[in-house]
Amino acid sequence: MLSRCGGHGSQSAYPANRKVSGLFLSPAALILLLLSACRLPKINIMLKFATLTARHLFVQKRERTMSNTRLAPASKLPALGTTIFTRMSTLAQQHNAINLSQGFPDFDGPDYLKQRLAYHVNAGANQYAPMTGVTALRQAIASKTGRLYDYLPDPEQEITVTAGATEAIYAAITALVRDGDEVICFDPSYDSYAPAIALAGGTVRRLPLQPPAFRVDWSAFSALLSSRTRLVILNTPHNPSATVWQTEDFAALWQAIAAQETYVLSDEVYEHICFAPGGHISLLTHPQLRERAVVVSSFGKTYHMTGWKVGYSIAPTAISAEIRKIHQYLTFAVNTPAQLALADMLEAEPQHYLTLPDFYRARRDHFIRALSASRFHLLPCQGSYFLLADYSALSDLDDVAFCEWLTTDVGVAAIPLSVFCSGAFPHKLIRLCFAKQQATLDAAAERLCQL
Ligand SMILES: Cc1ncc(COP(=O)(O)O)c(C=O)c1O
Repeated sequence: MLSRCGGHGSQSAYPANRKVSGLFLSPAALILLLLSACRLPKINIMLKFATLTARHLFVQKRERTMSNTRLAPASKLPALGTTIFTRMSTLAQQHNAINLSQGFPDFDGPDYLKQRLAYHVNAGANQYAPMTGVTALRQAIASKTGRLYDYLPDPEQEITVTAGATEAIYAAITALVRDGDEVICFDPSYDSYAPAIALAGGTVRRLPLQPPAFRVDWSAFSALLSSRTRLVILNTPHNPSATVWQTEDFAALWQAIAAQETYVLSDEVYEHICFAPGGHISLLTHPQLRERAVVVSSFGKTYHMTGWKVGYSIAPTAISAEIRKIHQYLTFAVNTPAQLALADMLEAEPQHYLTLPDFYRARRDHFIRALSASRFHLLPCQGSYFLLADYSALSDLDDVAFCEWLTTDVGVAAIPLSVFCSGAFPHKLIRLCFAKQQATLDAAAERLCQL
């Protein structure tokens, strides 16, 4: 922390001869005082004397204030505190609770990926990567996208590797949103969107989605849309509701925004964790929307390596150029050996992401079976690794208080759904992460079934 001016411990950055008492007069002021004392009939000299003395006293006061006080900037995000994810994980640790709150797996990623990381580190790939991402990774992302969504982005111009999807989201919002713009987000929604919008000078306009289906009401959407709507942010498969967008949702979105300059940010970090019969429908499959959209994804989710923090954005050349201007000065480049290892993994073992829906479906179904004897009512889960549970049969507590009690008294940590919403959220829903080993899920279910 910056302690005192200059930030060098207790040493002041101001020269010693300026640390003077309130009675000290500057040399210029002294000369003027002498001249005026000699009764020179110069009224302007008297005036100058008064001005210089006042300014000197003001500077002294400011220096005294600054050198004695720790600086604390007025917050640009005054409403933000520690996130609920950190709070619940800390509480879980303190009470030795099973942590189903934060969204990360308690198992490791593929061996091949780890071996390739070690290989590239030992082969000396340890210097800065190209700003846009290593060529091999951008090419591998392009061909995977082409195979899955029948759309081949240009790896040179349209794909940018970022420090997790979080950076891609931040860079896209910063690039697109200007002072006074409006951004439509759906409530509930992932927590990193709103702060980035606020920092860019934009205003969030939220459209509440109602459980259990959490579908967009397109007439309510149109009512929210205005000439100032610069961006719409969607997320499919959706965290926290575990719902997915259908082809008709993209069609409705296009119909609503086609006539104005509104961009779309599609957060698809769970693209490979989708259980819907037709699989994940990417915005990239919509020929018009993809001409004005940024699609982001995350290798952390796909390869069970959330700590690697490597993600990417796909956007048309003109939008990517603006995103890259932000990325260039935010992180500049992303971990080189991790990018090379991910490129190898994408090319050598496509079956990993192709079988990921089955891998997580088995965990989801196992957890649902284990909870079937409980008094929780479980909502449908079509994607992501989150399951929503309605606890109205169990408690009248609000969802934050219920999650705290669940952690401290029952020993299972979960996330209250209201934290993903801006306004009042009257439902009694909690989010449970099932990206866990079977033994973890069984132990959690056993405790939850006793309630
Ligand atoms: C919906 C959503 N978007 C973005 C992210 C961030 O992804 P990353 O860890 O790659 O930054 C997450 C992580 O939980 C998420 O759930």
